[in-house]
Amino acid sequence: MKKVTLFKGDGIGPEICDQVVRIINTLNLPLEFEPFEVGAAEYERHGALIPAAAFESIERNKVILKAPITTPIGKGFRSCNVQLREKYDLYANIRPAKSLPNVKTPFANVDMVIFRENTEDLYVGVEKQIDENTVHATKIITRRCSERIIRSAFEYAKEHHRQRVSCVHKANILKLSDGLFLKVFNEIKEEFPDVEANSYIVDNVCMQMVMHPEKFDVLVMPNLYGDITSDLASGLIGGLGLLPSANLGDEYAMFEAVHGSAPDIAGKNLANPTALLLSACMMLDYLGYHDEGEKVRAAINRVLIQGDVLTQDLGGSASTSEFTDAILQALQNA
Ligand code: NAI
Ligand code: MG
Repeated sequence: MKKVTLFKGDGIGPEICDQVVRIINTLNLPLEFEPFEVGAAEYERHGALIPAAAFESIERNKVILKAPITTPIGKGFRSCNVQLREKYDLYANIRPAKSLPNVKTPFANVDMVIFRENTEDLYVGVEKQIDENTVHATKIITRRCSERIIRSAFEYAKEHHRQRVSCVHKANILKLSDGLFLKVFNEIKEEFPDVEANSYIVDNVCMQMVMHPEKFDVLVMPNLYGDITSDLASGLIGGLGLLPSANLGDEYAMFEAVHGSAPDIAGKNLANPTALLLSACMMLDYLGYHDEGEKVRAAINRVLIQGDVLTQDLGGSASTSEFTDAILQALQNA
């Protein structure tokens, strides 16, 4: 029996997590979830956002399915997400944005996969107050971390029969840091002669992603640009409720929705569980259950195509659990 550590998160986390577990459990796979309470409420109760037992579970199981966690605003708090990515060296943040059937957006045929470097760049969080009116923030780019994310993007492209990998950077201004990232990209592309390679400056890529999103395939970029362009990509396919992600390292893997804990709709049974469910499908792919992942994706698509049971973010009036019931029904009828 394969065990997976489950973080129920907070805000909308527990609501969407319960529904996703309902769906995965109906697949009757040799998979068992080890659930943990994490986040703000857990902090109030026991003084830590993530309890020690949860870390032990991760270290045994190596695979985490994670619902969103609120980052309390205040001194001394490091985001749980950043903490987990660092602790388990989850260096490749993979965010596929694919148009879903019958979801109304001004864009069609979007099918891009963003590889966001997950461990360095400005997110190392080193800021220095120089004087009252001046702050310096440190941006770190290393050859080691650039190589591993760029190589993962090319390997993914090769394995998934993708045509092209594009590097996104600002090397025209940040000549040394982004310059290094681009230089490494240009070296590694030579190892993959069957995959096309090109590069874009980040501001230009934002314009082109909106004008011609269908022309993008696999994209690889430093942390900050990946954070921003992947939210943009979620807008192209119908919103944050639909965008899944995988955070992969050499030893550990964590799967989560791109969105946060959505405090504005928490506790109301209104959230769309699709992003977390598609993240769970990426987890099934990773664990070797690709066919089951595809079955769940097909069931989501059928519910979207029928169009009569949709959550509010998709223009419907169904609750989280009603939407899930419809997906379960579609799975049974498959
Ligand atoms: P958010 O992603 O939680 O919400 C942004 C907007 O999208 C809200 O209007 C929300 O209602 C909507 N939304 C998000 N997910 C949705 C879903 N599944 N269905 C329907 N609507 C959805 O971003 P926000 O408000 O900036 O952050 C809230 C909290 O979440 C913060 O504490 C932040 O630090 C945390 N956060 C956690 C993440 C994680 O655990 N991976 C990622 C991003 C933010
Ligand atoms: Mg973000």
